Amino acid sequence: MDPEAEQERAEAAAVPAKPIDLDRRAIQILRENEWGDYTLPTKGLYPYQWNWDSMFVALGFSEIDLDRAWTEVESLFQGQWANGMAAHIVFRRDDPSYFPGPSIWKSTHSVPTSGCSQPPVAATVVRDLYEKDPEAGLERLQTLFPKLMSWHRWFHTNRVVSGGAAIAVTHPWESGRDNSPDWDKALANVDPTGIAPYQRKDTSHVDPTMRPTSFEYDRYLKLVEYGAACGWDHTHITREGPFAVADPGITFILMRADRDLRYLAEVLKKHSAVREIEGWLFHAREAARYLWNDELGAYTARDLRTGIKADGVSSVSFLSYYAGLTSSRRDAKLQRTLDRILESSPYGIPSFDPEHPKFDSKRYWRGPSWAIVNYLIARGLAEFGFERKANMIRLMTREAIALSGFSEYFDPMTGAGYGGQHFTWTAAIWLAWASPRAESAAEA
Ligand code: GLC
Repeated sequence: MDPEAEQERAEAAAVPAKPIDLDRRAIQILRENEWGDYTLPTKGLYPYQWNWDSMFVALGFSEIDLDRAWTEVESLFQGQWANGMAAHIVFRRDDPSYFPGPSIWKSTHSVPTSGCSQPPVAATVVRDLYEKDPEAGLERLQTLFPKLMSWHRWFHTNRVVSGGAAIAVTHPWESGRDNSPDWDKALANVDPTGIAPYQRKDTSHVDPTMRPTSFEYDRYLKLVEYGAACGWDHTHITREGPFAVADPGITFILMRADRDLRYLAEVLKKHSAVREIEGWLFHAREAARYLWNDELGAYTARDLRTGIKADGVSSVSFLSYYAGLTSSRRDAKLQRTLDRILESSPYGIPSFDPEHPKFDSKRYWRGPSWAIVNYLIARGLAEFGFERKANMIRLMTREAIALSGFSEYFDPMTGAGYGGQHFTWTAAIWLAWASPRAESAAEA
């Protein structure tokens, strides 16, 4: 090809896609990844239904097809256990392209699932769907409400250690932030000796430098084997198991979801449920106090076995606003930490502090920026009057998507797209929040 034409082609390829085309492409991605009444995060890498992915997907669907959005939420609860837990993966079938599948998790629920949960964004999404059209949503809300209640109750009883209020994760996968440095110290205390030989599948779909290491994977599998061996006794696992870390992500997301659930209980006039939820919320400040790290000026994870605090700031450190919490002294510090991080990261909030030696702009939850977390942080900031910062985060997310398409996650410094492509939750967040169309709809 002549050099001039080649140059022109290269320049055209470098021009970010137009928002209108991205709206169209986002809808296509949602539809392409639909699998009956649920949606895959992306074909190949993740061939089942994932809990919080599905809830963000419901938000995306609510922009184009509200009925389909409700169906997405309803299908997730087919994976709800008798003890209330809504599982992190609902397998339904065995797909050999994914590891670890149902035969490794060995859950005994009627529909095969994994044995842990994931961040409970569902109640907040259900409130959003209901508010879009209360008349159409009322009956569906009535059916979902008791399921949401028992899932939240499961967290408040099975994922706290005695006397505590912050929510524990007993497997890094439960946090939704698999290989965050938040888990490093506690994970290093898990002895993987004796795990069954296995072969990873994720690294055959995605460049291994963008995925967790085998040191981490051995320990992930040990925790699965431990859970399966004790018949997924969740209370035992939280109190005695090899890994229990208080997670600001789940703690704040659940706190927010509790508030939305209380609102829904009021709509349905479920007075005893309102009182029960108020009992949970009564401990909110105590949980926040436990997670506050004054030295770092942020909320950070904390090992429940040793009491040791994480030594770095992660993106979920900023979800306290989303949770509905303020504290003037802490917030002044938190805002300074946020400003420092925003200054260095033009493509969204990095999943881990760029100034920390463990920051890795490519590796999954150790640095990359994720559209879903940007959205949650910005939503909370906007609700507390930090509109300018919230808009900045929205623009950063928009630019990353315009530059690199609907990737699973992005380099926070360059906007390069990494991980799986045609990713459903990135497309959903585009439709519900990041696109210029969503922004003008919200302002109207
Ligand atoms: C990864 C992510 C998790 C997500 C899942 C499916 O495991 O860490 O948050 O739910 O992929 O997208």
